[in-house]
Amino acid sequence: MTLTDADRQRLLSRLLRLDPALPDPAIGTIQGNCLDIIQHLPLGSVDLLILDPPYNLTKDFNGLKFARRAVEDYTAWLDQLIIALKPLLKSTASIYICGDWLSSASIFTVATRHLVVQNRITWEREKGRGAKANWKNSSEDIWFCTASNDYTFNLEAVKLRRQVKAPYRTQDGTPKDWETTKGGNFRDTHPSNFWTDITIPFWSMAENTEHPTQKSEKLLAKLILASSNPGDFVFDPFVGSGTSSVVAKKLGRQYLGIDLNEEYCLLTERRLELADSERAIQGFTDNVFWERNTLAIQKRDRENADVQ
Ligand SMILES: C[S@@+](CC[C@H](N)C(=O)[O-])C[C@H]1O[C@@H](n2cnc3c(N)ncnc32)[C@H](O)[C@@H]1O
Repeated sequence: MTLTDADRQRLLSRLLRLDPALPDPAIGTIQGNCLDIIQHLPLGSVDLLILDPPYNLTKDFNGLKFARRAVEDYTAWLDQLIIALKPLLKSTASIYICGDWLSSASIFTVATRHLVVQNRITWEREKGRGAKANWKNSSEDIWFCTASNDYTFNLEAVKLRRQVKAPYRTQDGTPKDWETTKGGNFRDTHPSNFWTDITIPFWSMAENTEHPTQKSEKLLAKLILASSNPGDFVFDPFVGSGTSSVVAKKLGRQYLGIDLNEEYCLLTERRLELADSERAIQGFTDNVFWERNTLAIQKRDRENADVQ
């Protein structure tokens, strides 16, 4: 997905502005430095905070560079960020913080200071650049934290549908915890903290943009479904190409995204515009998360449902 000049002109007027004042509620996208904008947002309003900040790597975000710094300096930057964000959280809020193996160390240090750390999800990202004298980086971490021990976790919404390898039956012959359909035998399993069913958006996926570190809609759908309810407020101060806002909109949540880069804010607005008519989330079909490489089975399963 790319923007034309006509898109840019049309979408620019949709960005929210601090001057003269933000609307209340502020639902949409703001261009700017999140550390400045946070100070203008209502206290105690956020149900779900998604933090996907620049990792501690030198990276060019459409001309705006984030420079790699010493681990202590990255930790201090993150600390300042969480201190600024914390007053915006409801006492029941959940917070997800993304990082790679190295920035993860800083995230853990800071999160344990200010939040309740509930878990660390490891996402097998697969794609990664090979190294000559090191192991290839092909995983990322997503730290699951909460503001207190009173928080939302919608377990049923994020179970993973897997094919059953050992189809045990009870004594009277009924399937034990699994279902049989035309597509095969399936079990909806408890979601673990090791995610192998998600790719990064690649060129043939409708959601793909030119953003260098775009997350997939399926990944955000898991976070948003597990840790918020319809109507809740999802906030992402590093929204990039807009994935969290777009998925929040598709799932009936309220959303606000901030990005330093105007082009990414416009991309976010373009995706939000398309979400008015396209609600599908790739990999999340009929409210079910399927394990990877099951498209043919999902199709057979749907045909089965249609004839019942
Ligand atoms: C890792 S990316 C987020 C990608 C996003 N999750 C997606 O799916 O597209 C981090 C983003 O933070 C933005 N950024 C960096 N510093 C920022 C700041 N101080 N305030 C707001 N945005 C910032 C960058 O422009 C970049 O788009």
